[in-house]
Order: sequence, then structure tokens, then C-alpha cells
Amino acid sequence: MTSFSPATVFNEKVYYFDNNATTRIAPEVVSAMLPFLEQWWGNPSSAYRFGAAVHGHVEAAREKVAALIGADPKEVVFTSCGTESNNSAIHSALYMNPGKKHVITTKVEHSANINFGEYLQKRGYDVTYLPVESDGLLDVHLLEKSIRPDTAIVSVMYANNETGVLFPIEEIAAICRSRGVLFHTDAVQVPGKLKLDVKALGVDFLSLSAHKLHAPKGIGMLYVKRRTKYQPYLIGGHQEKGRRGGTESVPNIVAFGRAAELAMSTLDDENTRVRALRDRLEDFILARIPNTVRNGNKDLRLPNTANIAFDFVEAEAILLLLDQLGICASSGSACTTGSLDPSHVLMAMGLPPMRARGSVRFSLGIYNTSEDVDYLIQHLPRIIQKLRDISPLSPEHPDNEAYDIEAAREKHESDLAEALAEEHAPAGA
Ligand SMILES: Cc1ncc(COP(=O)(O)O)c(C=O)c1O
Repeated sequence: MTSFSPATVFNEKVYYFDNNATTRIAPEVVSAMLPFLEQWWGNPSSAYRFGAAVHGHVEAAREKVAALIGADPKEVVFTSCGTESNNSAIHSALYMNPGKKHVITTKVEHSANINFGEYLQKRGYDVTYLPVESDGLLDVHLLEKSIRPDTAIVSVMYANNETGVLFPIEEIAAICRSRGVLFHTDAVQVPGKLKLDVKALGVDFLSLSAHKLHAPKGIGMLYVKRRTKYQPYLIGGHQEKGRRGGTESVPNIVAFGRAAELAMSTLDDENTRVRALRDRLEDFILARIPNTVRNGNKDLRLPNTANIAFDFVEAEAILLLLDQLGICASSGSACTTGSLDPSHVLMAMGLPPMRARGSVRFSLGIYNTSEDVDYLIQHLPRIIQKLRDISPLSPEHPDNEAYDIEAAREKHESDLAEALAEEHAPAGA
């Protein structure tokens, strides 16, 4: 792994624990893409040598991305993002099987699937959202029982972006194959963390997004297994062998290729050093901060993700106070930030809404150091205590003998506003 100076924003160091939202662009990736912004800006579809040279680099990147997932380069279709890849796979399956109107997915998918499913329902399709168990795992027998003669596609994520919990993709793919149903997996959170091999997994479609593996935003890919009938989602030029219209984003594609190479080389780091950092952080919180609970299965999950419920406090308040210290974490998917609803993933796991609202996701990555974890665990207990001291949700709070939850909530909001104002005030004020 290349070391480089810590991320700084507003001239402050950033302690970044939100790698499932997006990742820092690796310096090697920046160097690889720069010539395609400054010098080799030709259109890869142009017939002259300037275009042909650029085209060669697109194909070289395709080989590298294919190698990351064990695919044939011809099976890689570049898209703009993970969302487009997910939408395209489901759209293609429905288009190619016009008699089939049923889609199976889960209640804990990224909004790229959940909201696309709702859109399909409004257009007359039937979508089954499978439930999960309390530790976030999926009942594969229930999935099998949900397959119907009119099921066009099953789309199930590989790793959950909020909890890191893994689904048994190989087993699900085998069930779908035996039932003659197409299978797509959203593997956006997986590369660089687990080895990916589409042949061993037996999937028909698989989505990736480059900004989760230290490349820029705005580039993704869809693996389409050879001989799978495919209908493009973006209709336009003949790019991507007619599978996606639109002039290729060459710098981003080259960046994705370089990031794919790096992701293979950092697999060990992610599974040893990063895993140990995550475990140290999680063990510390669970042992030293009372009334905390891990959300999600302990073992069947990504090595970088810890999702913890801090009872009697609101995650948003924790995140605000962490942010004041330059620490970035989140309460769920970045795509649902701003929503007051508790996480749909944690609710699907059966958490009470209060516990879901007090849950924070810490997602680490290859640029995290032991000092980052030291800094976080040095400050976190004080932040939680401070918030609990003023929380009417806490059983230790003196006002809580006659417990009126609504009144308590109102009081909580105003106390919180005061506490935050105090935290923002200059030292000594
Ligand atoms: C599991 C999962 N799927 C899909 C996406 C969407 O990817 P993109 O941001 O590239 O559209 C994300 C991004 O947060 C994700 O975590």
C-alpha cells in the first residue's frame, strides 16, 4: 500500500470512517487518469489514430476490471455508477422476458434497488421484498419458495452497505439457475474487501461502482454473463458493443482499471490490518461504552464495517459532535442522509425505531491508521456520556420516573439544541 499524507479539509485532518459511502481516490489512480484529461482526450470511437490509441486504453482498463471479478473482458459493460448497473440488469431481464412481471429482491437493498422496485410496482410489475433475520441474514429457503413461474429476475446484494452483512450469493445463484431465473447481485461494497469470482459465484449479472474502490465517482460496471440476452438501458450510439449508449468517460474508465489492480493488491491489508482496526474499535465500544449493541452478524460480514447502536441517544447528535472533531461516520447510506426515518435496513432486522435511530456505521479502509482509531476511541465515550446526560430517553435521567415519551422527546430536542450550541461555543466561553 502506498502511504500518503492524511486527508485534510478546511486545513484540518479528516478522520475518515465512512469508506462505505465513498473512498479517497488513490494517488496511483489520479496519476493513471491524468494523461487522459490533459493529453489523450480523443473520442475512443473515432477512426483516426488519436481515437484508436485512446480506445486501446479503454480496452486495457476493461481487462483489468474483468480480472478483478474473474470475468472475460467481453462480459464487462462500463456504466456511470452502481445505481445504473443495478437498474440496467433488472430492466434488461424484464424487457427480455415480457411475459414475466415478477422481481425478487430484499428489504435491505440499497435505494438503487428499493426505489427502482417501487417504480416498477407503479408500472404494474410485482416485486417481492424478502425479509431478513435479526442478525441481517437471509432465509434462502424463503427466497426459493418465493420464485414463481413469472419471476424474471432475483436481485440480491452481496454485502450490505450499512451493516456489512454478507448474503450467500453462490447458493442463491445455484437456486436461480436450477429454477431457470436470472440472478443479479449488487456487489458494490465487495471489491478490495473480498475476492470476487463471477464464475465460481455463478451469477448472470453483477454490479460494481468505482468510487467504492479508490477511483472517482461517475463510473461503474455491469458484468453480463456471456450469452445472456441483454437489452441496453441507455439507448444511443454503438458504444460498449451496443450495450450502453453514450461516449465513454475515458479518464474514469482508466482510473477504474488502475483501481481494480490496486484492489487486488490490497485484499490482504483489508483482511488483516483493516479488520484488526475495525475489531479493536468495535471491541472497545462494546466493552467500554454501556448500552451499546452490534447490529448484524458478527462473522458473516465485511472486514471493514462496524454498525453499533448507542441506546438512549440519537445517531444524528453523535455524528454532529464527531464532525466537530473532524471525524466522519454515518448513520446509514449516504443516499438516505437527511431522511428522518430510521434506517430501512435496521428496521428490517427488527430493531426498535429508537435503537435504529441511535445506530452509527463506522466503515474503515486501507488509508485508516491505528492513530485514527486511537483518536476516535479517545473522544467517543465522552460524546456518548455527554449526550446521555441530557437525554430524556435514558433511564438514568432524573426526570424519567413518570415517563411520557412524547414530552420526553420534545424536551430532548431542545436540550440537544442547547448542548450543541455549547459545543460550538469558543473554548472558555
Ligand atoms: C450496496 C450499494 N449499491 C449501490 C450503490 C450505488 O452506487 P453508486 O453511488 O455508484 O450509484 C451503493 C452506494 O452507496 C451501495 O453501497
